[in-house]
Amino acid sequence: MRNVTIRNEQDTREFGLDLARRLAPGDVVALIGDLGTGKTTLTRYIAEGLGVSEPVTSPTFTIVSEYRSGRLPVFHFDVYRLESSEELFEIGAEEYFHAGGVCIIEWADRIADILPDETICVFMEYGEQEGERIYQCTF
Ligand SMILES: Nc1ncnc2c1ncn2[C@@H]1O[C@H](COP(=O)(O)OP(=O)(O)OP(=O)(O)O)[C@@H](O)[C@H]1O
Ligand SMILES: [Mg+2]
Repeated sequence: MRNVTIRNEQDTREFGLDLARRLAPGDVVALIGDLGTGKTTLTRYIAEGLGVSEPVTSPTFTIVSEYRSGRLPVFHFDVYRLESSEELFEIGAEEYFHAGGVCIIEWADRIADILPDETICVFMEYGEQEGERIYQCTF
């Protein structure tokens, strides 16, 4: 695991753009961190790096949003409201994992049992200063 100190939102953007360059079809990115640590914000920057032109909004109520204007399709999940991984199965998550796009999953720790072994994980915590975040990541 690699530790990354994020000083401000500009660093989050650079991190997201860098991650986007490394992504390939079928990759799953798990974003794990408390309320407000910046999971949706980071997703926006990953999407920007992939060339997504639509605005990326939080999919909390719909569970998953699809964006198809970039280099790869982006399937953005927010599983905060799910009770279990089974509910995610019911909406066809497995198919999204194998749909040739990139799945980005907020609150992925809640459905950890169905994540593929090769999932790219980013653990996000608040730092001491305003705007600061500490990421631990597996890539
Ligand atoms: N370094 C940073 N990276 C990302 N967001 C930051 C940073 N510093 C401050 N912020 C602010 O923190 C907030 C993060 O909100 P965001 O909705 O992205 O969090 P979230 O983790 O998705 O929350 P939720 O758990 O509700 O889904 C935004 O208002 C953003 O402007
Ligand atoms: Mg969010």
